Amino acid sequence: MKVILSELAGFCYGVRRAIDTVLQVSESNEKSIYTLGPLIHNPQVIEMLESKGIKSVKEISEIPANSIIIMPSHGVARTIMENAKKLNLEIIDLTCPFVSKVHRQAENLYNQGYQVVVLGDKGHTELKGIMSVAGENAISVENIDELSQHTISNKVGIVAQTTQTIDDYQKLVYAISGIAHEVRAYNTICHATSDRQKSALKLAESVDIMLVVGGRNSANTRRLTEICIEYGVPTFHVEVSDEIQDEWFAGKSSVGVTAGASTPDWIINQVVDRISAISEV
Ligand code: F3S
Repeated sequence: MKVILSELAGFCYGVRRAIDTVLQVSESNEKSIYTLGPLIHNPQVIEMLESKGIKSVKEISEIPANSIIIMPSHGVARTIMENAKKLNLEIIDLTCPFVSKVHRQAENLYNQGYQVVVLGDKGHTELKGIMSVAGENAISVENIDELSQHTISNKVGIVAQTTQTIDDYQKLVYAISGIAHEVRAYNTICHATSDRQKSALKLAESVDIMLVVGGRNSANTRRLTEICIEYGVPTFHVEVSDEIQDEWFAGKSSVGVTAGASTPDWIINQVVDRISAISEV
């Protein structure tokens, strides 16, 4: 059985930067290190960080004074950053520059009198961060169907959580253009996400089965799985190689492997090795 790894799979720029920086800080520092929420959405990486003494907490109040607080790559709400500054904590802000750019654009739109509409996944930390700077009349929607639940003004600014699809973004811009008189839209979808999606789809077109590797709590990994399923190829989402079942590959001659932007190389390699071992039996 042929195993083909997607041209673009695994850590994106922002995630690699976050992991590398945290590991460097932990090696060169005596202080306790805490991340606010999981640094990235991958349980195996979080376990690895915990084994090095880097703990994840839900609230700033759980962090002892004189510790280091790491802000995650998908950013945090402004109030959280302000609270951390008031406490005696050393802040290392690893918000991905692309996420910071969405914050700046949302805030600028608000300051220029636009009602900000954010395309994003409800409850996601990145969305909370964007909403925290988008003004009190900002709204967030997961799709155009939700627009009817809100009052839309005549002057609307649109941004998107970095992991959204271009398709959903275009639909939103089109729908709002039919409601508001003035629309200013910024495509803030990160290329790392859309490039991984295109690369996964291209691979799905040429194989008998797809495996998507990554955290079940990772929005961009789930999206890769959805895209492959929508294309119509049998697709399985696994976090680790132990979840792979031999019977998935019965009668198949080629398998494609892709991985979310928060999946480390060592997990992808284990999955590829496991499939290769099955195909040799
Ligand atoms: Fe940044 Fe894009 Fe990754 S926003 S964290 S480079 S998916």
